[in-house]
Amino acid sequence: MIQRYELNDLIRADNFIDGKWVPAASGKRFAVTDPATGEVIAQVADSGPADARAATDAAARALPAWRDALPKERAAVLHRWHALIVENADALGRLISLEQGKPFAEGRGEVMYGASYVAWFAEEATRVYGDLIPQQQRGKRMSAVKEPIGIVAAITPWNFPLAMIARKIAPALAVGCTVVGKPAEDTPLTALALVMLAHEAGVPAGVLNLIGASRENAVDAVKDWLEDGRVRKITFTGSTPVGKYLARESAGTLKKLSLELGGNAPFIVFDDADLDAAVAGLMASKFRNGGQTCVCPNRVYVQASVYEKFADLLTQRVAALKVAPATDPDAQIGPMINARAVEKIGRHVSDAVQRGARVLTGGKPLAELGPNYYAPTVIADATPEMQLSCEETFGPVVPLFRFNDEAEVIRAANDTPFGLASYFYSQNVRRIDRVARRLETGLVGINEGAISSEAAPFGGVKESGYGREGSKYGLDDYLSIKYLCQGGLE
Ligand code: SIN
Repeated sequence: MIQRYELNDLIRADNFIDGKWVPAASGKRFAVTDPATGEVIAQVADSGPADARAATDAAARALPAWRDALPKERAAVLHRWHALIVENADALGRLISLEQGKPFAEGRGEVMYGASYVAWFAEEATRVYGDLIPQQQRGKRMSAVKEPIGIVAAITPWNFPLAMIARKIAPALAVGCTVVGKPAEDTPLTALALVMLAHEAGVPAGVLNLIGASRENAVDAVKDWLEDGRVRKITFTGSTPVGKYLARESAGTLKKLSLELGGNAPFIVFDDADLDAAVAGLMASKFRNGGQTCVCPNRVYVQASVYEKFADLLTQRVAALKVAPATDPDAQIGPMINARAVEKIGRHVSDAVQRGARVLTGGKPLAELGPNYYAPTVIADATPEMQLSCEETFGPVVPLFRFNDEAEVIRAANDTPFGLASYFYSQNVRRIDRVARRLETGLVGINEGAISSEAAPFGGVKESGYGREGSKYGLDDYLSIKYLCQGGLE
């Protein structure tokens, strides 16, 4: 029987190192709060370099046996982990809502999304093939085999506290790597719960280690992994400046990196689009997680002849969104993650208004609901000089830009250092082919706003990073290729 837990049974506040729950070496703790109310949920171990080192030591000890386990043995453990996650989807969904703020339906949805990566990589674990290279010389056999890269450090964000860590840990474990990890300081509890379930599923001691750290101590703790030559790979989801820091600081030991960084996604509505479908797609992709998603549209370009009509249709839908705490069953948007997030959204909106934009709906914090709420907002007459055009707002704000022709909008869409996701709506097949080829992003939604899937390669180009997560390609980042040349065979 698969064990089912209540929310409180899943709350762990210590580090998980070498199969044991342990406090930080310093004994320090930091508060994790509910973004809806500011109330403290738990005091989590606040780790430093000694804890990071202990995690690496455990991962190094566990590596030989885990690397040599049969792929089907590792797959069986991942399948059990998947079953436990799914069985506990309600409690995990509530935990996500509690520490991250997203409505319960979305929190539970995230659990199932994260679980889908675990199931996917459980299956992929048994399909890591190499190659026998066509013979080049008599008496010689050449082959290429894939091996786990070694210890992986996973550093994960707060916006999807379960799905992002699941899609990093699952492929690492599937191929035989061991893992040290640090979840974001705002939302460590979901990751700790996930690790608890992994242990229960049979992940051996030392194979998966997780430490918490506050904003103040995180840099010091993680630095130990960046400098330790035993850690062979870093996988990170978060901001571009932090990604660049990790690449720079880990260069001394030439680690392999996967960086899933910031985006500034364009969403283009051509005049030949089905406008109702475009509005529905935009609502789905923009307001997922209250706009706090790397693939959320940040700049919405609408062709001039349909601009006013699209703006009207969209504004009606956005004005009807229900903003409420995650515990309200009808909530569609919860609080933002913290006060800094609300401050940034407010700054982007005021800058746009000062530069001539019109607020069609929203445009203000909702202080009456709690400390971190912001009204879903539509802004018309956005222009490229505005801050919200250059930086990810990471909140529920849709700025509408006007364009006249295809060449102009492709130029504008690509005029950013970022290249994670893009979206466009058109019913013209030739245009669909042209625009899809010209958009400089790793992911393109064509007449579709919901593009994420465990079966698809997720990742960016340009300063949105490198490496791919999910899909058959998602294993490559955790493997190295070894060439074997055997002579004297004839
Ligand atoms: C992200 O925001 O980084 C991930 C979103 C997704 O997986 O769809």
